Amino acid sequence: MSHLIAPSVLAANFGQLDHAVEMLNQSTADWIHVDVMDGRFVPNISFGFPVLNAIQKTALKPLDVHLMIEHPELYIEQFRAAGADVISVHYEACPHLHRTLQQIKATGAKAGVAMNPHTPVSLLSDIIQDIDVVCLMSVNPGFGGQKFIQHTYQKIKELKALITAKEATCLIEIDGGVNQENAPLLLAAGADVLVAGSFVFQSANPPETILALKQIIL
Ligand code: DX5
Ligand code: ZN
Repeated sequence: MSHLIAPSVLAANFGQLDHAVEMLNQSTADWIHVDVMDGRFVPNISFGFPVLNAIQKTALKPLDVHLMIEHPELYIEQFRAAGADVISVHYEACPHLHRTLQQIKATGAKAGVAMNPHTPVSLLSDIIQDIDVVCLMSVNPGFGGQKFIQHTYQKIKELKALITAKEATCLIEIDGGVNQENAPLLLAAGADVLVAGSFVFQSANPPETILALKQIIL
């Protein structure tokens, strides 16, 4: 499978969110990454159901919803109803992760698990076969435009080895500080999905930037 590009609308102009989503529709983006923050799990608040619903009305591509919230299990069905195709919950926010993943799958969405930079991937050993997407955070979640954490390469390799050892099929997604320099290295290490926020939306030509990320050949 060729890798997937998931631009994050967190870096878009919220005053013209429709334009951003239409641009993504026309681009070579595969998914649209949507960052939900509650001001408790992370020290920032982004947006919730009404904004996701508005994005869904325009979007022609799967919505990859990254929940940076406490107690995500309370809102899974609502996020699905508002348009989420992939729902990622944080490992650190889910004491009953197995149950929460089953809950996500029961809605028909793909089930993702996001991990903070300090959380070892080995903790997924007994759950990896139940996950559709592992989202490795390559920055501390909460803000766009942060510096990429180099240790991520090592975590991708460890996660890839775990997936292979367990004969699991989940995708490896990288979120935070992705750009044209580190993207080829991330893909070479085993990444399947690259999230990119500020690198796409602050570039002079976002569709060309997305295309350049998509066209990386190893
Ligand atoms: C960070 C979010 C990211 C963010 C990435 O908490 O999860 O998805 O939008 O933005 P960049 O690509 O600017 O680091
Ligand atoms: Zn994200």
